Amino acid sequence: MESTSFQLRPPVFPDDVATIAQLDGDCFTRREERFVSGDVLEAFVRAAATDDRQHLWARIAVDAVGPCGFAFADPSHSRLTKLCVAPRARRRGVGRALVEAAVAALRDRKALSVSLFVRCDNTGARALYERCGFVGDAVVADHYGPGCDGARMLRDCF
Ligand SMILES: CC(C)(COP(=O)(O)OP(=O)(O)OC[C@H]1O[C@@H](n2cnc3c(N)ncnc32)[C@H](O)[C@@H]1OP(=O)(O)O)[C@@H](O)C(=O)NCCC(=O)NCCS
Repeated sequence: MESTSFQLRPPVFPDDVATIAQLDGDCFTRREERFVSGDVLEAFVRAAATDDRQHLWARIAVDAVGPCGFAFADPSHSRLTKLCVAPRARRRGVGRALVEAAVAALRDRKALSVSLFVRCDNTGARALYERCGFVGDAVVADHYGPGCDGARMLRDCF
């Protein structure tokens, strides 16, 4: 694998609990954006590793150095729930590939549209989502805690 290339793979339980915990801590600066606890993170990885058609879909991006990002999506609500890319691997298309893989997985599960929430002040992530065809349709005050609003964004799947 070249240093700039990467692959996406499903998570493995329990091996990737530590992988995702590390990335979660490295990528998210606000507590409200991280998994609320180690137990919740473990439950998410277990669900995604055992039944990604119904309960939870996830992919981990891996480059020549190691795991460099992940995405989670909730098929029952057609929602992209978590996305991050390690600082060392940003602006190489990893985030976009994870978003497109999540949208394709939700489309495959009969979703007509995909939604997500993003901090209104997260200009980088909002730019990525707009590049992927998402459009903001609502703002939820204090969604990420006092004074930190969230934007809902939507994209059609067809
Ligand atoms: C947001 C994030 C996932 C982007 O991942 P990434 O791998 O760097 O994104 P990509 O390389 O696929 O970017 C694709 C396009 O999105 C846009 N984009 C991505 N990051 C951007 C930034 N910081 N500023 C402006 N535009 C950005 C650009 O148009 C970019 O294309 P370009 O590099 O050719 O200009 C990453 O910065 C991250 O993990 N941030 C912290 C966690 C986070 O905010 N997660 C989202 C929570 S909702």
